[in-house]
Amino acid sequence: MVKELLGYVRVHRKILVLGGLLSLIGSAAGLSMPLLAKYVVDAFGQDRSMAGPLLWLTVAVLVGAVVSAGGSYLMERTGEGIVLGARRRLVDRMLRLKVADVDRLKPGDLLSRVTGDTTLLRAVLTNGIVESVSAAFMLVGAVVMMATMDGVLLLVTLLIVVVIGGLVALIMPKIQRAQAHAQEAVGEMGAVLDRALQAYRTVKASGAEEREIAVVGEAAARARDRGLQVAGWTSLAGVATWMSVQIAFLAVLAVGGSRVAAGTLEVSSLIAFLLYLFYLVPPIGQLVQGGVQLQQGLAALARIKEIEDLPAEAATTETPGAGRPAGLTFQDVVFRYGDDRPVVHDGVSFEVPPGGLTALVGPSGAGKSTVFALLERFYEHQSGTIRIDGRDIRDWPLGELRAALGYVEQDAPVLAGTLRENLLFAARDATEEELLRAVARTRLDDLVSRLPDGLDTAVGHRGVLLSGGERQRVAIARALLRKPRLLLLDEATSQLDAVNELRLREVIAEVAEETTVLVIAHRLSTVTGADRIVVMEGGGVRATGTHDELVGADELYRELAATQFLTG
Ligand SMILES: Nc1ncnc2c1ncn2[C@@H]1O[C@H](COP(=O)(O)OP(=O)(O)O)[C@@H](O)[C@H]1O
Ligand SMILES: [Mg+2]
Repeated sequence: MVKELLGYVRVHRKILVLGGLLSLIGSAAGLSMPLLAKYVVDAFGQDRSMAGPLLWLTVAVLVGAVVSAGGSYLMERTGEGIVLGARRRLVDRMLRLKVADVDRLKPGDLLSRVTGDTTLLRAVLTNGIVESVSAAFMLVGAVVMMATMDGVLLLVTLLIVVVIGGLVALIMPKIQRAQAHAQEAVGEMGAVLDRALQAYRTVKASGAEEREIAVVGEAAARARDRGLQVAGWTSLAGVATWMSVQIAFLAVLAVGGSRVAAGTLEVSSLIAFLLYLFYLVPPIGQLVQGGVQLQQGLAALARIKEIEDLPAEAATTETPGAGRPAGLTFQDVVFRYGDDRPVVHDGVSFEVPPGGLTALVGPSGAGKSTVFALLERFYEHQSGTIRIDGRDIRDWPLGELRAALGYVEQDAPVLAGTLRENLLFAARDATEEELLRAVARTRLDDLVSRLPDGLDTAVGHRGVLLSGGERQRVAIARALLRKPRLLLLDEATSQLDAVNELRLREVIAEVAEETTVLVIAHRLSTVTGADRIVVMEGGGVRATGTHDELVGADELYRELAATQFLTG
């Protein structure tokens, strides 16, 4: 883990070393001060001029101040760089995870890992490592200086410091564990808050504000409690450090005082020694602090690694482009979402020739949307074969496969941003002409002309400023701009008005002339116009045919046609 941590530092090592050097020079300047103070005292006692020593003392103070400031700025800069690097790596992995893994994770928790946990890395990697190095230098320097003053007093000091240092070392792992729990609690709080914000209107409509506030409040309180545990252990470590110096001070004062009385030690040496003793306080404090930060960083790193260690999909950037319509086969496909989940596809077989409109119908839960998810390879089927253009989808490079598909989800998401950004989301290179054509085709032109800034109007987060039907058409226009070879359309169950429904049906028929369209149909009008219909039920395909054939031949279809379909 510590090695992993150093991996983040490696890129910045030059600036870190420079910053470290500046800190060292700053410490050296600080370290020279008691010695210079001793000269001032000696000069005072021997009736010599104090101007020289005082001048050096001033220079040491100034140099120390400037150099330390420069050093600490460099450290902070590096810290920001390290956080940036960690965030980029983490987000890069997050957006490449497999859908199946993301299903298990909570968005709010993921968010807290990117924002909170990466921030913790900064402390350990800059202050933690560098200042600990300069603190160690300072410590050694002070000890050497103390050794030149008086060996006996040094021995007394070290004995006390070592005993208490051992105690602090025992506390460190406890801090790491407590910190890990604290970060976890922050993530959980993010997750419950995210849950409430995602269902904002439902929360209000259900009168659930109080309950959700309480749930988030409890999560926040748990985060506080765990934070307190960290604080408890940290202050214990701090107080042990402070105690060690105080005890050492008293011991040195007692032993040193008696030796001064006996005439074996000069007063100026005792004063300088005591000053050096107090010079031990910041570096020891810094070392303890560095240790604490290291524990916190390790805890945060563990949470970051948890995501980075999940497998990533193959790189998928692939510019979509027009191609001939693709055919598709499902052959004995067996699939379940997880080992502990029921089988969703239990030997699904059907065939779709290139071009034309194919409707997938069946009761809710039959596995229709899952057909699309498998085609997009969001999940891997357990057995059987899925082919597009006669080629097993497992043999397609993932980017190429997805570039050939246009996918419109049932609750067609619209992203925050402008309408234009949303339309171009799946096809960055589309021309203005193509864009306007897609808008016209999906009958969005009325909407665009009504919006204050036309295509450049912001649509709100998740497109909340649009109606359900508008969102759906935006999603279809987006998919069309991708010029897919196979368009997957999970028809929204929400009603479009009669005019728009008719127009959309025309669009689908139009598109089906150019490309293959596979639509999960909820409307009678969609299935009556389809070239072929696949009826799914209970994990399998029960019948295929045209509307007229199926009405005569399949009881379930007849029933669906009579009762389930929305009649436009
Ligand atoms: N991401 C998922 N994880 C686990 N189970 C799922 C997931 N998506 C769908 N399911 C389950 O798979 C079954 C089929 O779902 P789906 O393909 O959406 O049905 P349909 O679209 O025909 O209504 C349902 O029982 C559903 O609960
Ligand atoms: Mg569905």
